[in-house]
Amino acid sequence: MPDASGKAQIAIVGTGGIAGAHLQGYRKLLDAGYDSFEIVALCDKFEDRRAAFAKTVSDMFGWTPPQYASVEEMVEKATLDGADICTPHAFHHTTVIPCLEAGLPVMVEKPCGITIKASDLIIEAAKRAGKFVAVAEQVRRGIKARTMRWALCEKKMIGDIRFFLVEGYSNWDFCSDAYKNAYAWQWRLLKLLTGGGMIFDAGAHFADMIRHMFGDVDEVSCALRTFQRPILDSPELGPQPMDVEDTWMSCLRFASGLVGQWSWSFSAPGEGVAAQLFYGSEGSARDRGGWMHPFQQGGDIVFADGTTKPYEDIEKEYKAQLDPAEAARLFPHGVEEDVALECWDFVDSILSQRAPEIDAETTKRAKAICLAMYESDMAGAPVRVQDVYSGKISAYQDPINEYWKIG
Ligand SMILES: NC(=O)c1ccc[n+]([C@@H]2O[C@H](COP(=O)([O-])OP(=O)(O)OC[C@H]3O[C@@H](n4cnc5c(N)ncnc54)[C@H](O)[C@@H]3O)[C@@H](O)[C@H]2O)c1
Repeated sequence: MPDASGKAQIAIVGTGGIAGAHLQGYRKLLDAGYDSFEIVALCDKFEDRRAAFAKTVSDMFGWTPPQYASVEEMVEKATLDGADICTPHAFHHTTVIPCLEAGLPVMVEKPCGITIKASDLIIEAAKRAGKFVAVAEQVRRGIKARTMRWALCEKKMIGDIRFFLVEGYSNWDFCSDAYKNAYAWQWRLLKLLTGGGMIFDAGAHFADMIRHMFGDVDEVSCALRTFQRPILDSPELGPQPMDVEDTWMSCLRFASGLVGQWSWSFSAPGEGVAAQLFYGSEGSARDRGGWMHPFQQGGDIVFADGTTKPYEDIEKEYKAQLDPAEAARLFPHGVEEDVALECWDFVDSILSQRAPEIDAETTKRAKAICLAMYESDMAGAPVRVQDVYSGKISAYQDPINEYWKIG
């Protein structure tokens, strides 16, 4: 429990891109009047990265936390109440588990482990330690996603949901230096470090949100392609060709009977496409975002008779019917931005000794949808998500588990 100050003492581990977004989230909480935490330690295996991040913390918060080169050193030397973990996928379990074993509750970035077995290691370590593992899955927490979920799934504004299509085709040059020289892409484009391409990365948000809205996916059928093969000189693996998908075509069958198409390519020269449409018996809803974060930017409705309802009107209706106590629970201190809300949930879970909104077990179910896509491509056949979740099917993941000695 926190010291006499009553403020949760938080460490940030993995001081890269998303850790910066978390920092902005913590700052938003302070600005909204919630000051029940302090960022008191930073950990990154690269000295220049942790030093640069310490300077950012100093600029934003007015103090410079001590910095550590490993979680093992950090938990030995620092007095902490929780660790906010933002490392690459291959290092989720290796950074989360030592923190749990040191008695710290953890928030880890999605997808919470590089494979199903890595998730299981994390979940088992949390049980042994009696500490929670929250997952930094922000999309469903923001005002816009909560509004659209209410509109489609509770208010049923477009009737019974029949099917969806989520497609994005664009042309990214992974062979350019901007990708080859950036640490964040060196690990992201290599299967052993990332676990999968964008299906598993940004797609983790997609899987969590569609499951949150429409329930479990029963079966997926997917074909992957990798058209670009730059050599990536990652510090962890040395020179290797990109070996994750840059293109996929998939069909998702939900237990409810809903069916959806989720197809994407980053290697599509020529005309671009960005369409995220959900069809119901009485109309359609178009996601305003265009990325793999359903309704993070809101959505607009077209009814069967051609009339429309823009997002702004839907949000007004959502807020008007929200019970004040529920509004205070979902948007504490008036905060509506999703990353700030996940940071609040983490701190408040520590201080209130309650379970976080999204935990490792919940996101294991979502990531099983993503991993089933890879297993389906490898099998050349549809795959049941439950068989991936349970570990019965793991051919795609086996080399990753073997390389990192997971399980
Ligand atoms: N929620 C979101 O919208 C979102 C967006 C981007 C990334 N992410 C997730 O955040 C995580 C990190 O992604 P990123 O884009 O910030 O990556 P990044 O490469 O920018 O940062 C990762 C940092 O972790 C450090 N690191 C690596 N191994 C470490 C270890 N063993 N101990 C301590 N530090 C270590 C690296 O040096 C680097 O500074 C991933 O899980 C990714 O999926 C989430």
